[in-house]
Amino acid sequence: MIDYKSKIADIIKDAASGLTKEDIEALIEVPADEKMGDYAFPCFRLAKEYHKAPPLIAAEIAEKISGNGLFARVENVNAYVNIFISREAFIGALIREVEDRGEDYAKSDLGSGRTVIVEYSSPNIAKPFHIGHIRSTVIGNSLYKIYASLGYNTVRINHLGDYGTQFGKMITAYRHWGNEEDVRREPIKTLLSYYTKFHEEAEKDPSLEQEARDTFTKLEHGEAAEVEIWKWFREESLKEFHKVYDLLGIEFDSYAGESFYSDKMPAVVQELKDKGLLEESQGAEIVHLEQYGLTPALITKSDGSSLYITRDIAAALYRKETYDFDKCIYVVASQQNLHFQQWFKIVELMGYEWAKDCVHVPFGMVSMEENGEVVTLSTRQGRVVFLEDVLRQSVEKTKEIIKEKNVVTDDIDDTARQVGIGAVIFQELSNNRIKDYVFKWDKVLNFDGETGPYVQYTYARASSILRKAGEEAVAKAVNADSLHTEFIAGDSAYELAKLIYRLPEVVIEAAGKYEPSIVTRHTVDIAQAFNKFYHDEYILVDNEDEKTAKIAMVAAARTAIRNCLALLGMEAPERM
Ligand code: ARG
Repeated sequence: MIDYKSKIADIIKDAASGLTKEDIEALIEVPADEKMGDYAFPCFRLAKEYHKAPPLIAAEIAEKISGNGLFARVENVNAYVNIFISREAFIGALIREVEDRGEDYAKSDLGSGRTVIVEYSSPNIAKPFHIGHIRSTVIGNSLYKIYASLGYNTVRINHLGDYGTQFGKMITAYRHWGNEEDVRREPIKTLLSYYTKFHEEAEKDPSLEQEARDTFTKLEHGEAAEVEIWKWFREESLKEFHKVYDLLGIEFDSYAGESFYSDKMPAVVQELKDKGLLEESQGAEIVHLEQYGLTPALITKSDGSSLYITRDIAAALYRKETYDFDKCIYVVASQQNLHFQQWFKIVELMGYEWAKDCVHVPFGMVSMEENGEVVTLSTRQGRVVFLEDVLRQSVEKTKEIIKEKNVVTDDIDDTARQVGIGAVIFQELSNNRIKDYVFKWDKVLNFDGETGPYVQYTYARASSILRKAGEEAVAKAVNADSLHTEFIAGDSAYELAKLIYRLPEVVIEAAGKYEPSIVTRHTVDIAQAFNKFYHDEYILVDNEDEKTAKIAMVAAARTAIRNCLALLGMEAPERM
């Protein structure tokens, strides 16, 4: 694509001596007011060299460059040269670029040779995979796609919560009251009930707590009986998690969870000791962090068992060693802010300069509206909303809507799946991630709002126009060496083209801010601009040149929307 700033800098350089191209490029502005042009060049810096007043210089430069075919018009206003890009030239170049690059449009090799780890989802074994997990899962997946599209090597890690004292409780409960068949039939719900049962019983009989601690110690020491049960719980849980990942179309490169680091922990504890960071406190071992404004971090418990934070430190050291990452991103709820601050600091105090490359990407809470009442979604209250149920419900509800609206599809079940799942993903990525939000069905599935269904519908509409135009006409349009872009230079076409043009920078901005919602918002903008264009213009007109140009515009918008959906982790239905 034409890099307009760079191109304009070249042109101005030929017209004005005294400044380098880089100087000129740095001076070029994008005026806030469109009436002042698409780009503006201030001439103050040239006054000295020219011994002339800036407005005079501006007038001279404007005069010299105004004949260029790239520009529709060049004006001088006071000390500024205001440049209006030729819509025709711009739109023609943009469509060419989008068609040539297809799926790769908006991709780049900005990150080539660099490795980014994205850690996301990371649910806890034997605990419900509930609606609260949607956030890490979907935000993380989109960040992975965004980074991959910028050419980074990416590693997707699911840091499963598959270790810790709760497994001592679970195994203990299973041995007392458990039943193999129940676990096999309904693993998560059954294991959860053991957990609850354990707490009830332990209140009456405190010796159970000790039994659970001993059991976990045995697990940590690799005793066969405990390891076997634990492994089995883990496998059954993973089967459940996979149902959700399959629905969402999400994959991981590694499921190295907390248990993976159990044998790497003693070395970490030793290193902390050697580096003089560890202090004893009532039988436990801690790292003091008060001087950094943080509470002390508990590294080992008085019974010698390790902790969540210790496993995170071990995991970071292992990942640096294994992947030599340039960045390691943790997509984890903002409730864990302190936890991440603490252990990032500890890794820094251990002398690892790469601690700065570990990034916590926090997000707010999700609650759900149920029968007009907002419920928060913790497992404690016993009101768990399972993510799998939400996704299946979304598909069902979408199917109803599709039927009601008499939407024509190739396969109603498949379309309902694409749109139902997409709606949940899109909703999740619509909000600035740090904000808490309330999940509301009528908002998620609103086909006319700023939603997944709306964008997918727009995509399907573009596909439908191309189908109507016919293969031959489409081939002619997308392969044309030159288009009669004067037919697609109206305001709505130009707005649409500008949004498509900006997509590559939008993706880079989203990566830099770890904020997929920037892409989501831009996707809505493109969809709305496309619908406005479609509303304002007849596409399949009799005039061949006009029709061809318009088909090319539709095809470019369709490609852009599809690429956006891919970055969000959504499918693009051809018909709906
Ligand atoms: N399993 C944890 C939870 O559900 C999230 C893990 C976050 N990642 C990490 N490296 N600590 O709360």
